[in-house]
Amino acid sequence: MEKRAALITGATGHLGQFVARRLSQDFSQIALHYLKNKDKAIQLQEEIGRAGGQVKIFSADLTAEPGAEKLIREVYQEFGRLDVLVNLPGAIKNKNWDDLSSADWEDIFRSNLESAYFCLKQALKIMRVQKYGRIINIGFHLVEHLGSFPGITPYAVAKTGLLILTRTAAVAEAGNNITVNMVSPGLIEGGEIPAGLKMKEGQIGKPEDVAEAVAFLASEKAARITGTNLIVAGAWKM
Ligand SMILES: NC(=O)c1ccc[n+]([C@@H]2O[C@H](COP(=O)([O-])OP(=O)(O)OC[C@H]3O[C@@H](n4cnc5c(N)ncnc54)[C@H](OP(=O)(O)O)[C@@H]3O)[C@@H](O)[C@H]2O)c1
Repeated sequence: MEKRAALITGATGHLGQFVARRLSQDFSQIALHYLKNKDKAIQLQEEIGRAGGQVKIFSADLTAEPGAEKLIREVYQEFGRLDVLVNLPGAIKNKNWDDLSSADWEDIFRSNLESAYFCLKQALKIMRVQKYGRIINIGFHLVEHLGSFPGITPYAVAKTGLLILTRTAAVAEAGNNITVNMVSPGLIEGGEIPAGLKMKEGQIGKPEDVAEAVAFLASEKAARITGTNLIVAGAWKM
């Protein structure tokens, strides 16, 4: 186990809890972030804590910069370092093109793109001094498909923006021994499956598949991998 600190934002979410469990196998200090679901955060803290390691929980609204600044400050005060940041929060709204409001755009951008940027920006201040960091953003499996997304336009635009942010930060921070990558899940068991959708065998993934991809990019083995987008979708819609 590496004596490093990993922060998982959105750790109380469907994928977040699996990412947290998996990273706790590799890193001795785990920071679990949640927004409202404190019970889930405590439950996860107890579960992970039983297997050893130091696990702390932190709440913050990450859709505004002060929330991210407070979160990263508190994690640093607790552990004295921050080596791995996984940015998970990212709401999706299915809404027709014609029905979209400016509030929809704002909500989705804040949730998927700005929250990750705010955390990344604050984490970099610590990682640059350490000369070590692993940042992993969560996209979606079609993030590199620059086509039409009529039902989820703001989400697709925000996730594409997140990929550009990922690659920009990867290049900018390469000299600081900081890698910045994206993991892009497809349909995941327990997630929302669109009605009537026919999937072939092997195309619906498990949350553990996503967690494993994150763990790889967070590890020493991935030291030379940066700016990449690792799609975990079983060839769905490729
Ligand atoms: N699940 C899938 O099948 C799937 C597929 C493709 C991509 N993805 C992507 O994977 C990521 C995680 O998805 P998920 O399904 O696990 O999400 P989820 O279950 O909806 O969880 C969202 C997490 O974000 C937190 N959160 C919500 N609003 C927040 C805010 N304003 N500030 C800070 N934190 C906030 C929630 O905290 P509380 O619960 O404590 O309130 C929760 O921990 C997202 O980026 C999503 O786009 C998911």
